[in-house]
Amino acid sequence: MFEKSRDYLAKPELYIPSTDPFWDDEHISKGMLEAHLNPHWDAATRKSDFLDMSVSWIASIAPPKQFHQLLDLGCGPGLYAERFNSVGYSVIGIDFSSRSIEYAKEQTQHNKSNIEYHYQNYLTIDHVEKFDVITLIYCDYAALSITDRLILLEKIHRALRPNGKFIFDVFTPKMRKKESRTWCYEEKGGFFCKEPYICLESIYQYDDYDETELRQSIVLNETEVHCYNIWDHFFTKEKLLSEAQPIGFGAYDFYGDVSGKKYSDAEETICCVFTK
Ligand SMILES: C[S@@+](CC[C@H](N)C(=O)[O-])C[C@H]1O[C@@H](n2cnc3c(N)ncnc32)[C@H](O)[C@@H]1O
Repeated sequence: MFEKSRDYLAKPELYIPSTDPFWDDEHISKGMLEAHLNPHWDAATRKSDFLDMSVSWIASIAPPKQFHQLLDLGCGPGLYAERFNSVGYSVIGIDFSSRSIEYAKEQTQHNKSNIEYHYQNYLTIDHVEKFDVITLIYCDYAALSITDRLILLEKIHRALRPNGKFIFDVFTPKMRKKESRTWCYEEKGGFFCKEPYICLESIYQYDDYDETELRQSIVLNETEVHCYNIWDHFFTKEKLLSEAQPIGFGAYDFYGDVSGKKYSDAEETICCVFTK
């Protein structure tokens, strides 16, 4: 075990993948779904009051009558998708957590809301001028490398109809963490594993072009070592424009959050509305 763990203790090379899936792990996805469904947590989905405000703001800038077809990327268990549908959008949701997608499908049957859900990596979407609105909410764009961000922006631009809107949020540099190393012992099991485990958590900063941040969780149980690497990036308006302008959107609007708060460079998030 000591041998196996030691390999993970040095600062990892940029974009070394996790040893196991994170969002789609059988155990982790259970805790994640609980976090999504807790209306008072900001952990995996924002609090439910915020979701309500967010959906009514989006419906005000892209009214469902004119902007009918909506694609929600990284839809999780469908908390936004259900709300989008209830204000009049025709909704497709995509996520690569099978537990979240199963839950979302059950909800749409139960609510007779007629939302289409796909268990799919959103980096593989391939649509041409099919959607009026595409959303990617809760700073997922920031988890992608610059290569993947540009691939995704191209695909989104292609998938939007003329005048369609891509609406997403990102963290600003205010949210960058300090490098650190901490540990905890989960005697009864916990978020990462149902058996007892030790978790060694590190935050690393990289001085690459993208000033990448890594949150690494090394999970040690009786017999195994798992390593989860969650990459993050932080954005200014200028950086966002430098990525989106070459793709060829026609207009770029910025807000302080995804409920339409006024943009200020003192905020923790930026919400972007890019119009094709
Ligand atoms: C922070 S949660 C946000 C969920 C939802 N947008 C919300 O605000 O409630 C991120 C979601 O994106 C999904 N996800 C992350 N990367 C993905 C990818 N490449 N393809 C599909 N889904 C992805 C995760 O499974 C997770 O459900």
